[in-house]
Amino acid sequence: MSKRNILVVGSANIDLVARVSRIPQPGETLMGRSFATVCGGKGANQAMAAARLGASVAFLGCVGADAFAEQQRESLGGAGVCLDYMKTVDHQPTGTAIIEVSDGGENSIVVVPGANFELTPDDLWNRRAAFEAADAVLLQLEVPVETVEAALYLAKECGAVSILDIGSDQVITPEVLGKASVISPNRSEAERLTGRDINTHDDVLAAARLLLNYGADHVVMKLGAEGSRYVARDSDQFSPAFSVDVVDTTAAGDAFTAALGVRWEDGNMAEVLRYANAVGALTATKAGAQPSLPDGNAVTAFLKQRGTA
Ligand code: RIB
Repeated sequence: MSKRNILVVGSANIDLVARVSRIPQPGETLMGRSFATVCGGKGANQAMAAARLGASVAFLGCVGADAFAEQQRESLGGAGVCLDYMKTVDHQPTGTAIIEVSDGGENSIVVVPGANFELTPDDLWNRRAAFEAADAVLLQLEVPVETVEAALYLAKECGAVSILDIGSDQVITPEVLGKASVISPNRSEAERLTGRDINTHDDVLAAARLLLNYGADHVVMKLGAEGSRYVARDSDQFSPAFSVDVVDTTAAGDAFTAALGVRWEDGNMAEVLRYANAVGALTATKAGAQPSLPDGNAVTAFLKQRGTA
């Protein structure tokens, strides 16, 4: 199989991670178990995940002129991600994320965008070559929405599939959403985008169909411990999650989205979902965002062990 060319337009953060027995309530002070500073950011995580799975990856994002940016460069560069399109500004710090991870592996995340919000549509128009070289463009909402909109436009013009992993509470209109080839929200994001509660399988399907009505061709719902579901106008496939010992779910969704991008053209959605579920599950078995992302060999071995290679 030839190497997929993936372009990620998105955020790079440094994650300030506290391990806690449980996620605290408002007004509560909990004593933490440990603290770590880890490379993260949904964009950077997806770029690294795709590179570890064997794709040729370029990252288009913005960082500050600081030590956190150096940490990101080392991490992404070390995985072989092309950083030629990365922008640096000196008036904003590299983005940060304050993350609490419970003993059960659940997390709560606050992102302070900093330099991520300096990535403008003009930065994209000036880097059109990156879109022309891409088979798939991966996007999330940790950079300005108008920048995401420009990326969706360029992806379409250049003939690349665009996969929009929602990934934050920024407001996005149905019109912009509908420009994506693939919308891939998690359950709570899908609830927010559609204004509907999602509890049952029927609710998942109804929400996915609403999202399709906005204009996208495909919806892939990330349903966490349940699995994932692909819905198009003439197709509906569910793939159950793999059961694993969860250590930290941070970046599991990013890894899943990266896997979708890497395998999208394979055509068999049942296999694509199963592969992406495996990548997400493996990511959840390790701590931290970028340090937890599996490589292609680990995924193949895992699928073999679970009965499919
Ligand atoms: O999806 C996990 C990521 O969300 C973290 O790495 C954090 O930086 C936030 O962007």
